Amino acid sequence: MKERTLSIIKPDGIARGLIGEVIKRFEQAGLKIVAMKMVRMSKEQAKEFYAVHKGRSYFEGLTDFMSSGPSVVMVLEADDVIARNRELMGATNYEEAAEGTIRREFATNERRNVVHGSDSPETAEFEIDYFFNAVELVGT
Ligand code: TYD
Ligand code: MG
Repeated sequence: MKERTLSIIKPDGIARGLIGEVIKRFEQAGLKIVAMKMVRMSKEQAKEFYAVHKGRSYFEGLTDFMSSGPSVVMVLEADDVIARNRELMGATNYEEAAEGTIRREFATNERRNVVHGSDSPETAEFEIDYFFNAVELVGT
């Protein structure tokens, strides 16, 4: 069934010139980009976006990092896209990520792991709504 997910190329990915590399992988995998823009999250916005992680030891570092520079946010659409995007990304801990995944190839530490992807239909809905309104989502 056709599904949508939110993808973010994080500030480390932008700083290191990986926008094209990441988008190429999505396109080659047949994931359709139906919305895209560059944003610079404030610390407050990063905390709101990652609110489910509040209280975790890594929360301050994560939200400092996510507000440290611009990100590219995208909505991807395809059958089973939430799982397929997470497969292309690789595991959260890049050292455990499968060979050939974005995080395995490009992450530099546990925090600076280049990409974000929604992890369920519910979080995808919240995350897409967080960044995009109806006009910005291209119909298919
Ligand atoms: P999480 O949602 O668990 O991972 P994913 O991005 O794979 O969905 O965590 C969100 C981000 O928080 C993760 O990409 C990197 C950061 N993080 C840490 O820095 N340390 C940690 O121990 C965890 C679990 C996450
Ligand atoms: Mg997550």
